[in-house]
Amino acid sequence: MMERRLLGVVTRGSLTEGLEMKLADDCFIEDIKAGKFVVVEGDKLRFFSLITDLRLDATTPAVLQNPPDVSDDLVREVLSGTATYATVMLKPMLTTEREETAKGNGTQERREPQPVKTVPPHFSPVYEATEADVARIFGSEDMEPRGRYFCIGTPLDMDTPVCLDLHRFIERSNGIFGKTGTGKTFLARLLLTGLIRWVTLGNGRVVTLVFDMHNEYGWKALREATGPRGEVKGLRQLFGPEQVAIFTLDPESSRTRGVPFDGTVVIPFDQITVDDIAPLQDELRLTQVALETAHLVYAKHRDRWLDELLKYGDGRDGRAIKDLADQIGANKEALAALYRRMKRLTSLPFLVPSDSDEKPSRDIVQTIMRYLQRGIHVILEFGRQSSMLAYLLVANILARRIHEMYVSMTEEFLATMDPAKEPRQLVIVVEEAHKFLNPYAAKQTVFGTIAREMRKYYVTLLIIDQRPSGIDDEILSQIGTKIVAQLNDEKDIQAVLTGVSNPSGLRSILASLDSKQQVLVLGHAVPMPVVVKVRDYDECCLTVSYELSRYLPEVADRLQEEEFERLVHSDTSDGDGYNELPTWDIEERWREVFGEDEDEMET
Ligand SMILES: Nc1ncnc2c1ncn2[C@@H]1O[C@H](COP(=O)(O)OP(=O)(O)OP(=O)(O)O)[C@@H](O)[C@H]1O
Ligand SMILES: [Mg+2]
Repeated sequence: MMERRLLGVVTRGSLTEGLEMKLADDCFIEDIKAGKFVVVEGDKLRFFSLITDLRLDATTPAVLQNPPDVSDDLVREVLSGTATYATVMLKPMLTTEREETAKGNGTQERREPQPVKTVPPHFSPVYEATEADVARIFGSEDMEPRGRYFCIGTPLDMDTPVCLDLHRFIERSNGIFGKTGTGKTFLARLLLTGLIRWVTLGNGRVVTLVFDMHNEYGWKALREATGPRGEVKGLRQLFGPEQVAIFTLDPESSRTRGVPFDGTVVIPFDQITVDDIAPLQDELRLTQVALETAHLVYAKHRDRWLDELLKYGDGRDGRAIKDLADQIGANKEALAALYRRMKRLTSLPFLVPSDSDEKPSRDIVQTIMRYLQRGIHVILEFGRQSSMLAYLLVANILARRIHEMYVSMTEEFLATMDPAKEPRQLVIVVEEAHKFLNPYAAKQTVFGTIAREMRKYYVTLLIIDQRPSGIDDEILSQIGTKIVAQLNDEKDIQAVLTGVSNPSGLRSILASLDSKQQVLVLGHAVPMPVVVKVRDYDECCLTVSYELSRYLPEVADRLQEEEFERLVHSDTSDGDGYNELPTWDIEERWREVFGEDEDEMET
């Protein structure tokens, strides 16, 4: 048994108001801080508790009226613990059963902690929580099934890891909130590392799709400058091509950055529906009339509505907007206005007319879907196409169609109940989530649908946002696990705490968070709200790659190769040494993953 430090004994308290503990004589009150985890050993139960407050007391008021001389340490010492003492307020959070179930077979299994429904008897001892106590509540990385519990950091003031239960995490849509620079993207990448690790260890059935607006997930990402302004590894570097594929909207930018990608995203106009542009009202400055007009064009020309609109608008082949207006019974001015707005889409290089030569031979959504079905995680980087217009449009189009495919896959599975057909849980990661999920857009975009229907169709979201107050209330209340970094705006704080019990206690915790790498985690994936100092991403990369190299020969090989490269390049020390641009053959990669077969998707 690990040595545990006795802090005091319980003297009074109630279920609703919490417990009071008299501090042990050999404990200094200044060592005890609010927010610390302690364990009260009852007769049958172990009460996992949080220190909420501290108070100085005296047995007789007389001592307080004649305080000892400040310089007289001896008198102070004599009084302390007899006439004067300290009381610590505890809030029991969860209970676990006490008897050490000595199973003796080594594999630890976690028992669900229970809510607190009673209090410990008088004079129950209170101990500082140990690593084993924290693991009993939050799980630990060594527990079976391996990979399910993933360490995301440590509680303040302690070195013991706090884990997230990934199995519960992917059961709902989740959110990471916090103002700029608080480490949201780093944390999201950390969580993705945890998910992919879980899969790689053979226990997780989940696959992720990341809409990577700023190119921070797949290949290298930059660390901000305090200390060396270094690079950190992206997920593809960490897990290799067997686990992670990168698609790009901007092949040129990806090539310049030396990113090996699996495919280029090119979207023909006929894949854009009116519903896809409706959420772009702000970006395209579309009016309600414009949308109605678009529906009229669609009613006549169906999938080719955008092609036709642009052709008529451009006056190609002797056509004019007026003719189209007559054909579909629309107002000519409104149609011309719609054309001018939609013309902006032609400046996006990844959109092409449906009859263009640049139209890809393989449908990009089907391709991405095939990777996902193989269990390969997909990161879509935007390169220089990082305008909000491009991001919203592409994320909407792809997510809508992938969601449709998941719905039909799920229905097929439910009809046959064939376990081989059960879809893998898909987690879609979106940044700037309020753009997709504000009260207006949430009704229009597929993201609103996904967030509301929860995991019914095996798809959930991981949303990342600076302004949670911009997100629709109903969606926020459906979020399973919230991870909240520092927020300054009162409206944002209020928004993340909607639907949470005891919001005032958490509000003060939120207010005291550091400006970086500190978060409050609450909800489905943790048994109780907890403040965490987020694990360092570099350390996590190292730990995970060495762990995986023990299990997987290809990871071990890659680590060795990297080590070799580093040694070779450290001699030719001009810059980073990686000047040569690699060439990637997309077709070859396709054959590597899927073999020679060119047939259509199975579904
Ligand atoms: N877990 C971590 N490990 C290492 N560094 C971190 C971690 N979290 C944050 N940082 C540091 O903080 C910086 C900002 O983090 P990040 O880019 O994730 O912020 P953000 O919240 O996504 O900001 P924005 O909203 O502007 O995108 C990083 O560049 C990195 O230097
Ligand atoms: Mg970010």
